[in-house]
Amino acid sequence: MKKIVLMLMCCSFFAAFGQVLKSPSEKLTLRFSLDVKGVPEYELDFVNSSVVSKSKLGISLKGETSLVDGFSVLNWETSAVDQTWEPVLGEQSEIRDHYNQASATLLQKESGKKLIITFRIFDEGLAFRYEFPTEKKVRYFVVSKENTEFNLIGDHKTFWIPGDYDSQEYVYNETKLSEVDNQKLDMDNGIALKSIDGRYRIQSPLMMKTKEGLYVNVFEAAVINYPVMHLDLNPKNFQLKVNLAPNPIGDKAYLRTPSVTPWRTIMVSDDARDIVSSKMILNLNDPNVIEDTSWIKPMKYIGIWWEMHVGVSTWDYAGGQNALNAQSDDLIPSGRHGATTENTKKYIDFAAKHGFDGVLVEGWNVGWEDWFGNWKEDVFDFLSPYPDFDLNEVSTYAKSKGIKMIMHHETSGSTANYERHLDRAFTLMKKYDYPAVKSGYVGKIIPRGEFHDGQAMVNHFNFVAKRAADYKIMLNSHESVRPTGISRTYPNYFAAEAARGNEFNAWSSGNPPAHETILPFTRLLGGAMDYTPGIFEVKMSHYDAQSTARVQTTLAKQLALYVTMYSPLQMAADLPENYEKYADAFQFIKEVALDWQSSIYLEAEPGDYLTVARKEKNSENWFIGAITDENPRKTILELSFLSPGKKYQATIYKDAKNADWERNPKRYVILKKVVSNTSKIKLKLAPGGGAAISIIPID
Ligand code: NOJ
Ligand code: CA
Repeated sequence: MKKIVLMLMCCSFFAAFGQVLKSPSEKLTLRFSLDVKGVPEYELDFVNSSVVSKSKLGISLKGETSLVDGFSVLNWETSAVDQTWEPVLGEQSEIRDHYNQASATLLQKESGKKLIITFRIFDEGLAFRYEFPTEKKVRYFVVSKENTEFNLIGDHKTFWIPGDYDSQEYVYNETKLSEVDNQKLDMDNGIALKSIDGRYRIQSPLMMKTKEGLYVNVFEAAVINYPVMHLDLNPKNFQLKVNLAPNPIGDKAYLRTPSVTPWRTIMVSDDARDIVSSKMILNLNDPNVIEDTSWIKPMKYIGIWWEMHVGVSTWDYAGGQNALNAQSDDLIPSGRHGATTENTKKYIDFAAKHGFDGVLVEGWNVGWEDWFGNWKEDVFDFLSPYPDFDLNEVSTYAKSKGIKMIMHHETSGSTANYERHLDRAFTLMKKYDYPAVKSGYVGKIIPRGEFHDGQAMVNHFNFVAKRAADYKIMLNSHESVRPTGISRTYPNYFAAEAARGNEFNAWSSGNPPAHETILPFTRLLGGAMDYTPGIFEVKMSHYDAQSTARVQTTLAKQLALYVTMYSPLQMAADLPENYEKYADAFQFIKEVALDWQSSIYLEAEPGDYLTVARKEKNSENWFIGAITDENPRKTILELSFLSPGKKYQATIYKDAKNADWERNPKRYVILKKVVSNTSKIKLKLAPGGGAAISIIPID
């Protein structure tokens, strides 16, 4: 009898608490409560339907009482925010940050520890994070597990890639949640290093669609001093549980009070365009910390790059010869080295002739003979050029032509080595006026045992961005942690790869036609991607008769990607000679803008199609990109967004009648048309096709 009374008391003590928070439009409703054991829980509804059913929250700690149960609520404090801010570079010149907030301050009676859970509810989604307030009792602590759940309410269609701690460079799988299974994947996919530990572990951003037509996306924002979030799925009840990338001894995060975790986000809408156009992830990051941003500029570039990927030249100077003596003067040139002074000058000439901003040169520095695969600590010093690459001559020549050079720092995953050399490497860049660097992290990480997605690596990437800012250097990282909106805080971190880029089409089974219709719903939510579009010579048999590798789009779709794949850093990835062959189509790449006043997503469906119209910043020029997956698509675009009473010249680059990514990829037509805000443009996209349109005012 006594026991029962006690339990009832507990129940009323813990379960009495229940609070509701609504989004500004009131379409989304969060319910927060404590269960009978004092475990924090939340639920999310969209209008009248449940999106996430009761899901637990909590953090397990190593060697001390975990922050998972036994809580009571000390305080529930709400506030509302509606403000706008201006990104340095972006899809739009002003971003509205509009949400309702509630912070639940929880007290764990047994330990006396406090935990704050803060919720922000926007019109297109919910975000929440854990906050560890300053306390006498708790100073330093180790996170052994995060217990956040997302209990989904159905067997949604989902676009997923395996929860690999070392790579996101996978093709997306489109299946029901119940059909997710890493063991069924074809692992012959061109990814050299794979670290998948969990049959049902998948990555975020996880894009889903319910039977009722709701679009649901689970992701995170502001990953700082914390590992990347992966998701463990229970394919039977559709529960997702957070899984954090561990360090070599199995710990997840080392924190101290006061501190916060990244935001966990759930976007939801009945219109897919609300997901792709959402600025929620950026909004959840801290404001820009760089005072003078005048040096942060968009860049359109070409590079000594694709020619290595297709095997025309090599990164290394000496091939396999003398490989272990790569630092000595004894290298015997193979004659196939791409990054020569002479070749670089040719690229600079081409860039200058066609109005590009920059030239990237990979393979300029000593070390490529054995750069990867040996888990070697000191591969590159980021300072020593190969004998046939003259830094001074190249940079003087580039300057004389008005071209900026883009530095390349391949680390082969040895962050230990990179951090040792970073200051001298950046000093060298400044000496030769390189405003931007592309970094790379191919291979197993050193310090050995770390994964690309662990806390230490997150800290590395953020440190490099910060240090680059000190030197006024812009950063584009490859094989890095996927961005989670950090470009708001460090706008010099203006692009990253961190997904399967166009390069896979040069040497692997490639990227299926749906790939680029999924990325805007996944990877791009966190920030710009250096996808490197613009491959016109789509079949690699052009270079090597034996090769079956190819781009799985039409040429017109390669143009459309400059608009659909937002990035202030865009490469024209193909070889100059291929652009010369298709000079009329190349014109679009030359003209397309990189920084925008506004962006209007006209049509979007993950895995199927996407059409976006963007207005160039401080200009009346518009650019439209429309893409489809493997299916052909007809659409009519209404140009009602153009300024009334104005006439414009539209140039439409589209698939020719018989175009098809498989059989007729290079067939395109270019049409010119005078248009106004009452005009309509009819488009027929080929299978794997697309269209790119420039709309320039006629004065
Ligand atoms: C992989 C990067 O994604 C690619 O762009 C680069 O060329 C190679 N690594 C070599 O660094
Ligand atoms: Ca890569």
